[in-house]
Amino acid sequence: MWLNQLFPGNPPAGNGHLATDNCIDVAVIGAGAFGRNHARVYHQLAQQGEAVNLAAVVDTDVARADAIAREYGTRAFGSVEQLIGTRREIQAASIAVPTVHHLEVARTLMEVGVDVLIEKPLAASLAEADELIRLAGQLGRVGQTGHLERFNPAVCATLPLITRPMFFEVHRLSVFTPRSLDVDVVLDLMIHDLDVVLAFTNSQVKEIRAVGLPILSGKVDIANVRLEFESGCVANFTASRVSTERVRKLRFFQPEQYISLDYGRQDVLVFSVGRGPGFTGTPSVNPQIKVAKAAITAEEPLHAELKSFLDCVRRRSRPLVSLEDGRRALAVALDIVAAIGEHGRKVRLDQLGAH
Ligand SMILES: NC(=O)c1ccc[n+]([C@@H]2O[C@H](COP(=O)([O-])OP(=O)(O)OC[C@H]3O[C@@H](n4cnc5c(N)ncnc54)[C@H](O)[C@@H]3O)[C@@H](O)[C@H]2O)c1
Repeated sequence: MWLNQLFPGNPPAGNGHLATDNCIDVAVIGAGAFGRNHARVYHQLAQQGEAVNLAAVVDTDVARADAIAREYGTRAFGSVEQLIGTRREIQAASIAVPTVHHLEVARTLMEVGVDVLIEKPLAASLAEADELIRLAGQLGRVGQTGHLERFNPAVCATLPLITRPMFFEVHRLSVFTPRSLDVDVVLDLMIHDLDVVLAFTNSQVKEIRAVGLPILSGKVDIANVRLEFESGCVANFTASRVSTERVRKLRFFQPEQYISLDYGRQDVLVFSVGRGPGFTGTPSVNPQIKVAKAAITAEEPLHAELKSFLDCVRRRSRPLVSLEDGRRALAVALDIVAAIGEHGRKVRLDQLGAH
């Protein structure tokens, strides 16, 4: 859907400028572990001929902003207000500050006409997510949520293969790093897969079963979740940030097919039961399993994500991963966090930890 259908009157792009074929001036807000990747990729895109200019890097830790700005030949600012005060004409921004600050930063930018790509999880609460959606709608801003796996070429190649998925098995395991410890593993890692499975199933969640444990941080570091959808599909998710290995796999079954997707290797294997035309025998006798590898051109998901965001800014179109999608994944993730808490209370996990 086109945004100008959503917002009659065809709202102008950022700061009153039409960002048609013009070069888009972007800012990266938050120059931490992930924000620096946004800065790197915008810089790469510009070098590859994309009509984009990394015009500013903003961080309350000015030394951080400065280091990255210097690396990519741009300007550093200590706050969004300072950036706006200089009247630099920014049309779009990536927001990669801690999740609790997404709303305040996005609001300030949207109010002066800047389109926003907000990192995942979209917000710290559903009320904040709703406010972001309301603001973007009212102000006619393009708002995208940073669920970058949706731009993973393996995920894009799988989407057209979907018929009726009935059973998912998903693993996202990481080695421990002292990062993103302000949120638990569900909002940190599992939310990527929740967003992908929600997009693949296109069905409402009916039931949640969940268990999770804090291991190294004070929050849940490892979780296993079973979701049942209205469609009858069941999805099992395991997410860990205390693993000894890195795994990012999503496998699912649909009638006569098994599909195995590796996010990291960016490959997709499709196993199909081919019985041939006119087959009338017993399905279980001598099934012919055909294995095919989906044709994929490798690309860094963040590269594809930012290119797509810039395209939406230029065309005033709705992003592939909208703010509503970000809210949908957040709602399920928060329900899972609550289910984990409930399970922990039921089995008196706090008392087990005391021994
Ligand atoms: N898409 C992904 O795969 C992915 C991966 C990692 C992190 N993230 C998300 O990106 C966001 C940032 O995570 P991170 O790991 O880079 O965090 P981080 O703590 O490493 O960096 C955050 C930076 O934001 C700065 N900051 C805080 N408040 C600010 C404000 N009001 N204005 C400007 N700067 C401010 C901090 O000084 C810090 O440098 C989080 O929402 C996180 O969930 C997404």
